[in-house]
Parts: sequence; C-alpha cells; structure tokens
Amino acid sequence: MRIGLLGFGTVGQGVYNLTKPREDMEVAWVLCRRELALPDARVTHDFLDILGDASVDTVVEAIGGLHPAREYVMAAMQAGKNVVTANKAMMAEFYDELLPLAQEKGVLLRCTASVGGGIGWLSELERVRRIETVRHVGGIMNGTCNYILDSMTRLGLGYQEALANAQALGYAEADPSTDVDGFDTRHKLVVSANIAFGVSLDFSAVPAAGIRYISDTDVAEFKKHGLVCKLVSCANAYEDGYEAYVEPTLYPITALEAAVPTNYNLITLEGSTSGRQSFYGQGAGRYPTAYNVVQDCMDFIRGRGFYCAYGPKTPVRNDRKKCYYIRTAHPDGWLEGHTAGHWGEAVITEQVAVAEAHDWLQNHPGTFLCALPDGKEGIETC
Ligand code: HSE
Repeated sequence: MRIGLLGFGTVGQGVYNLTKPREDMEVAWVLCRRELALPDARVTHDFLDILGDASVDTVVEAIGGLHPAREYVMAAMQAGKNVVTANKAMMAEFYDELLPLAQEKGVLLRCTASVGGGIGWLSELERVRRIETVRHVGGIMNGTCNYILDSMTRLGLGYQEALANAQALGYAEADPSTDVDGFDTRHKLVVSANIAFGVSLDFSAVPAAGIRYISDTDVAEFKKHGLVCKLVSCANAYEDGYEAYVEPTLYPITALEAAVPTNYNLITLEGSTSGRQSFYGQGAGRYPTAYNVVQDCMDFIRGRGFYCAYGPKTPVRNDRKKCYYIRTAHPDGWLEGHTAGHWGEAVITEQVAVAEAHDWLQNHPGTFLCALPDGKEGIETC
C-alpha cells in the first residue's frame, strides 16, 4: 500500500511513525504546510502532487476540520483512491456526500479513529450489526470534557482551573468551544448512530448541550445526592423512529460511567441479543488515534471498506421525557410551569421531552442543564 498522508500534526506524525517499520504499507507523500524533510517520503505543499501520483492507492486524511479536508477526500475518491480519515466533523456533516461517492466509485473508506481514538469502537459496531440489531449507542465520547468534569468532581477544582489544566495537557484547544459545548460529541454520536443503525440521521436535528456553565456549586449539589455529572451522547432506534442528543447527565456513583477517570472514553452499544457492551480506552492522542488509522489501512489490505451500506436520510425525534436539573439566571414561565422542586439554586423539572428542554436551553444562554438519571421520576426534589 502506498499512502498519501495529508497533514503532519499530532495524528499525521503518529501514522508516519507507526507505518515506518511496516513492510505492507509505506507513506510515499506527506502534504504539509511547513517546511519539512523526511528520509523516505516526498513532502509537498500541493495536494495535486498526491492526487496525480497513480502509484498512491490510499489517502490518509489527518488535517482535520471541514475544509479543505472534504474537498481533498472527495477528489481522492473521484480519482479512485481509498481514504482513511480520523475526521469526525467531516464524516458527520458530509456523510450524505462521502458515503454515496465511495459506493459509486467502488473505493474503500474508513474512519475508525474518528470516534473513540484508539478504541476499536466503529470496527466492532460493524461486526455487531452483522448478526444483530443495534438499538442504542452512546456514552462518554469526549476526553476533554471528561477530564474537566472528573477534575471538578474528584479533585474539587473549579471549571476554569480544570479547563486550564486540560489546555496545558494538550487535551483542550485554546478555544475549547468544540469540546465544551458538546459539538465534538455530537459529531461522534452521529457517525456512530449512522453506522449502528444503517441510516443517515438529520445532523441538524441533533441537539447538543455542553458543560461550559457548570459550577463547583452544581458539583457539590450532585455529590450531596450521590451523583456524578458526565457529558454523554445518546442515540436510540425505536420501532417508530430515532432519537439522538448530547447532554450532561447525572449517574449514581456506582455506575460504570461515574468511574471513568481523566480523559478516558466509555462508549456503549446495546445489541438485540448481546445486550450491553461497553468500550473503554483512550479517545484521543497521537498513538491511540494513529493506531486505528493503521488498522483501517490493514482493513483495506484485506478488502474491507465502510462499515455499512449508505442508509436513508432519517429524521430525529427527541420526544422521550426526562427530569432535568436547570440552574439559570433567567427563569421564566416555562421553567416555573415545569418545576417539581429545587436543589440549591437549581430547579428540578418534572418530566419534560428532551427536545423541549433543549429548545428552551437554546433561548437561555448562560444556563447549565443536566439530565437526571433514568428512572428518577420520583427523585427527592427538595
Ligand atoms: N477533543 C477530542 C476529545 C479529541 O477531547 O475527546 C478526540 O476526538
């Protein structure tokens, strides 16, 4: 296999190093903006050099972001090259372009590293759905948020201090919005659900609530009730439709999710016969991510392309009801009308539809919202 590697940042360098000693694949080209010299690969600033080299059969996209990643990947597939990517944003937002094109051109496309970094999550989903129906996918998919929430819960740090530590350790970006506002988790959820259910969920209808406004008083309140807050994704396939959303969620301290430390991920599926299966590991980082990129390259050598056939465009309906913890400086009639009790300064709502709670949150910036554990309808609300 001759690889055209797009990008030589954290993941790109990891892929280069992992493939170096291998005899079954070699990085022939590296696309890199900065000046770089490599002993065994040609370096270019121009993607057309890679596109025009007929000996390159596989493009590994490790530049991230939506553009020009999408354009490069589309052009590579148009030219008959197979593509491995770790880019969850591109896969989630352009699923309806990338999948049909790969099928039309008969090229192989995989993105295992895009969800769960080094965890074999998407590749195992592919195996699961060969023999059973997947009814649920979700869990802790963002290491940065887990690191912040874990630091607040176990170490008693404030949000800003925990975020600064996550930035110093290289988990969070200087602008942490994509992580802390739940957008990264939403991308990972949509890619997972599309593969698990064999559909193309309406991405724009998947709401994401983040952790930006959580405070140490919230965490103290949760502790009083024996609960731990995690940012989780959830997608379910029902007989009559699909639901998908991202939101901070409370777990009893005895739950598996509550025990996930630092920047780890815990991603779960529920199969119709196998039941719950959870996957735990490093969801980011150079070598965990590069590991799954190289695994995808190995799958190409074995002739394995995408995890499922492209499925129909599917609406999302988040009408399941839950109780929420809501702390806001801007209470209104809706919140008062749905109040079941109070924890400290926060309202505990009666059961409201997920879509309704997220719609309300959109219009109340600065609010922290968090779902109570399932089955907590009768939870002590005062
Ligand atoms: N920012 C992501 C995280 C990186 O913290 O999980 C891996 O997708």
